[in-house]
Amino acid sequence: MFNIILFGPPGSGKGTQSEKLIQKYGLKHLSTGDLLRSEIANQTALGLEAKKVMDKGELVPDEVVIGMISSAIDANVDAKGFLFDGFPRTAAQAEALDKLLALKNAPIAVMLALEVSEEELITRLMKRGETSGRSDDTNMETIKARIAEYHKKTTAVADYYQQFEKVASVKGEGSIENIFGALCNEIDLRKEQ
Ligand code: AP5
Ligand code: MG
Repeated sequence: MFNIILFGPPGSGKGTQSEKLIQKYGLKHLSTGDLLRSEIANQTALGLEAKKVMDKGELVPDEVVIGMISSAIDANVDAKGFLFDGFPRTAAQAEALDKLLALKNAPIAVMLALEVSEEELITRLMKRGETSGRSDDTNMETIKARIAEYHKKTTAVADYYQQFEKVASVKGEGSIENIFGALCNEIDLRKEQ
């Protein structure tokens, strides 16, 4: 198994690049944001609770997303590997993920971190808000809250994987194809080992 984390602030291009990476490497895409939005669309109790938190730009509780990821891993026993997008987002989530993957004897190979300036993040998210239907994209206050939450709680995840020398930073500005190429280079370096 070959497992990757695609990391970065809101709007850094995790979803965009994930689509391309899973095709090239045959990985299963696990995005906690997508899983939560599907719970909202299905109007489940979990989805209704999560929506209140997401609309404020805050993180949903660790136990909720860890439970979702644990079920998704168990539901995909035949996967060649997983691409985690938007998870883990706290140090506690990172520790929980490592424990889940240790059970499968399939650790994280690399955490790819997309680097994008705050100005560019805001421009991208405001633009997407015009068409996405995502309620957390529609106002500047929520977008800024999401970025603040990232600095407060999520950058700790990079520190966590740095101690195992698993972090590779990639510039997330420029053309989608060039960024994809840079991400593939980092993956291929690790696959050859
Ligand atoms: P989530 O769905 O994960 O959203 P996010 O991290 O805020 O990021 P986005 O999905 O908005 O951006 P992205 O990095 O995927 O970029 P994208 O490719 O879309 O989380 C939403 C919420 O769910 C959270 O706020 C939280 O409440 C909750 N949640 C989720 N996971 C959680 C967890 N683990 N723990 C707790 N709570 C959790 O690109 C953005 C835009 O830019 C697009 O319009 C795209 O077309 C454009 N774009 C992409 N690349 C480029 C480029 N190179 N140049 C120009 N434009 C580009
Ligand atoms: Mg996304």
